[in-house]
Amino acid sequence: MSSNFIWAVATAAYQIEGGKDTDGRTPSMWDAIREIPGRIKDGSTKDLSCDGRNKYREDVQLIKSLGVTHYRFSIDWSRVMKNGKTRNPLGMEYYKDLCRELKKEGIKCIVTLFHADLPLDLYNEGSWLTEGIIDRFVEFSRYCYEELNEYVSIWITFNEIRMHAWAGVVKVEGEPFHSLDIDYKKFLGNVSVTRAVMVASRNMLLAHAKVYRLFHEKDDSTRVGIIVGAHSCMDAEGEKISAVSERATKSMVNLYLDPLIHPSNDWTEDMKEYLGTDLPPWSEDEKKLLKNTMDVLCLNYYRPHIVKERKGPSLVEELFNFTMVDDDWPKIGGESSWVRLHPRGLISLLEGLTKKEKEDGMKYPNVPILISENGVNDDPSLDSLEDTNRIQYIEAHIDGILEARRSGINVIGYTAWSLMDNLEWDDGFQVRFGLFHVDLKSEEKTRTPKMSVDWYRKKIEKERRDETMNKEVK
Ligand code: GAL
Repeated sequence: MSSNFIWAVATAAYQIEGGKDTDGRTPSMWDAIREIPGRIKDGSTKDLSCDGRNKYREDVQLIKSLGVTHYRFSIDWSRVMKNGKTRNPLGMEYYKDLCRELKKEGIKCIVTLFHADLPLDLYNEGSWLTEGIIDRFVEFSRYCYEELNEYVSIWITFNEIRMHAWAGVVKVEGEPFHSLDIDYKKFLGNVSVTRAVMVASRNMLLAHAKVYRLFHEKDDSTRVGIIVGAHSCMDAEGEKISAVSERATKSMVNLYLDPLIHPSNDWTEDMKEYLGTDLPPWSEDEKKLLKNTMDVLCLNYYRPHIVKERKGPSLVEELFNFTMVDDDWPKIGGESSWVRLHPRGLISLLEGLTKKEKEDGMKYPNVPILISENGVNDDPSLDSLEDTNRIQYIEAHIDGILEARRSGINVIGYTAWSLMDNLEWDDGFQVRFGLFHVDLKSEEKTRTPKMSVDWYRKKIEKERRDETMNKEVK
C-alpha cells in the first residue's frame, strides 16, 4: 500500500459562501430559489451564509487543524464569470488566494467545477437542456484551469451528475426539487419529462468529456473525474445483489458511467430498453469524445437502499420497475435524518464496480476511486458539539474503505462532508453536517470545533503512521 492516500474534507461554494453580490458576483439559480417564500425550510434568503467568502484565511487554519492532505471545494460560476459568460478577474482572485493560502499550509486542492448552482441567466436560457450550455461550461472551466491548475491535484467536473439531472433542472415527480421549474417544452418541444432529464444528462456528460479533453490537451498528467452519488441498492432478502437491486443500481450509477468508461462507450442495452425513445442516442463522434474520459471515479456515499421488484411510486422507480422499501439500519443522524449507518452498502458497491470476476458489464476494473463525500448530520438528541454519532459514522466508513483497499480495490482517498455546518439546500441551515459548528446568528459566523475535529485528526495521524510502518516492514 502506498502512503499517498488522500485524506480530505469538503465544502461547496454556494453552501458556505451564499449569494451576496460581492466581487462583481452575478445572481444564481439558488439565489432565486431562496427568494421564493416557503422553498427553504428555515426561510433564510441568499444573504445568510457562513461567510466563507470573507473568512477563508481563518477557514484554511481550520482545515489545517484537521491534518488533512487535501481540501475539496467548488468554484462559484456566478462569481468568476459574470452572468456565466464574461470573465470576472476580481471573483477569480479570491479562489486564487484561497489556493495560495492552502499551498502555504501544504494542503492540496480538489476542485469541483459544478456543484448544484448555475448562473441565473444560463438557467433561464435553458439550463442543461440546451446544447449551448456545453461551450459555456467549457469556457468557464478553461478560465478556472488557466488561473488555478498549478494548485489543483484533481479536477471534478460535476458533483452528483445524476442528482443534478433529476433534481436540479426540471421538476420530477418523486425526486427532490432543487431548481426553478423551467418550462422545458419551450426548449425541447412536446417531449416527456424523462426525455428532458436524459437530454440534460447527455449535455452534462458531453460537457464533462469536452473539459476532460481540454485539460488533457493542456497537460496530459492532469487528473479529471466526475462524481456520482453512490446509490448502492440491495435486495430485501439478506442484502444480496439480485436482478432488481442490480437494475436499480445501474439506473442510478452505471447509467452515468457507462458512456464514459464501459468498453462499449454507450448506454447499455438494458438501459436503452427501459428508457426507449426517452434516451437520446450518441453519434459515433460523440462516443469517441466520451471514451475513457475519467482518471478518477468519485463517489459520494451516505446510505444504501433496499429495493423490491414493483413499479413506483416515483418516476425513476416506475421506469426501472423497482421500489425502495423501509430498512432498519441505524438512523445515526436522528429520527428525521435520511442518512443511515450501513458501510457495507458502500463496500458492496465498490466490489460490484471493480471486481474482475464480474463479467456482466457493471465493472470498471482499472479506475482509481475517490470517496468524495461521506458524513452525517448532527443528531438533534445530542449536544451539537459532542457529535459522537459523526465519529461513529465516519470511523465505520473509513475502516471499511481501508479494508476494501487492503483487499485490492483501488480506493485512493476519503473525504469527510463537511468542513463546517452550511446551507443544506432546501433544509436551510437546520440540518448540520459540519465538523465545525457555525453560529449563524453571530455577526462573525463563529466557527467552533465539534468533538469530531480532534478525533478526525487523530484518526488520520494513526492511519498514516500505520501505513508508513507497514511499508517499512515490507
Ligand atoms: C450531497 C451534496 C452535498 C451535501 C450532502 C449532504 O449529495 O453533494 O452538497 O448537501 O449531500 O446532504
